[in-house]
Amino acid sequence: MIIAPSLLAANLGKLESEIKRITRAGADWIHLDIMDGHFVQNLSFGPDFLKMIKQHTHLPCDVHLMCSKPEILLPHFIKAGADNITVHAELGERAIDLIKSIHTEKRSAGISINPPTPFAVVEPFLDIVDLFLVMSVNPGYGGQSFIEGTVEKIGLADKWRKQREKKLHLEVDGGINFETVKECARMGADTIVSGTTIFHSRCYRRAIERMRNNAIQAAMRTV
Ligand code: DX5
Ligand code: ZN
Repeated sequence: MIIAPSLLAANLGKLESEIKRITRAGADWIHLDIMDGHFVQNLSFGPDFLKMIKQHTHLPCDVHLMCSKPEILLPHFIKAGADNITVHAELGERAIDLIKSIHTEKRSAGISINPPTPFAVVEPFLDIVDLFLVMSVNPGYGGQSFIEGTVEKIGLADKWRKQREKKLHLEVDGGINFETVKECARMGADTIVSGTTIFHSRCYRRAIERMRNNAIQAAMRTV
């Protein structure tokens, strides 16, 4: 079970210590939400920000491009050291070329869909990616409430990968707390993005442990 704290919720005024703290606290990945102010109504971080992060952690950096023209940023995030790069299926066919470019650079490629987008839209991409990110909030801001109906897509993706014995990270992002993580893990999520719940906890280590244990126990109850 991978726990990927989202830096969007970190104290941006003391970022270096936040990155070191979350690394020491046992995070598996660092999730980086990249927003362009067009695909989503917010603006967040650029490639230089990722370069800085990589100086202060050994953890894989999971870059989530919520951008209308990710092709512009892709080479810069690859150069800055992104380990996984996720683009949105709402971009349509363009996402295929983006995924191919990510794989050409020997990085992991992910595909994501927003809450209103049906599973059928993302299914054609699942064969060519390493990760499927289910958005459980409408992207743009951290601290939103979990949208219940999105869990069904995790279940459909879990069924899809089991039928094909395909290795695929099933990631969920948005409103994931110690309770909502259980339903997501029960349905098959194995990679958990959480910002507010972790970064607003007094002890990051205890928060990550509790998030991971709740997810593992919930997943075990389904077997
Ligand atoms: C939304 C962001 C958030 C963030 C996690 O665009 O992608 O989902 O990563 O936010 P929390 O865990 O605070 O909901
Ligand atoms: Zn994200």
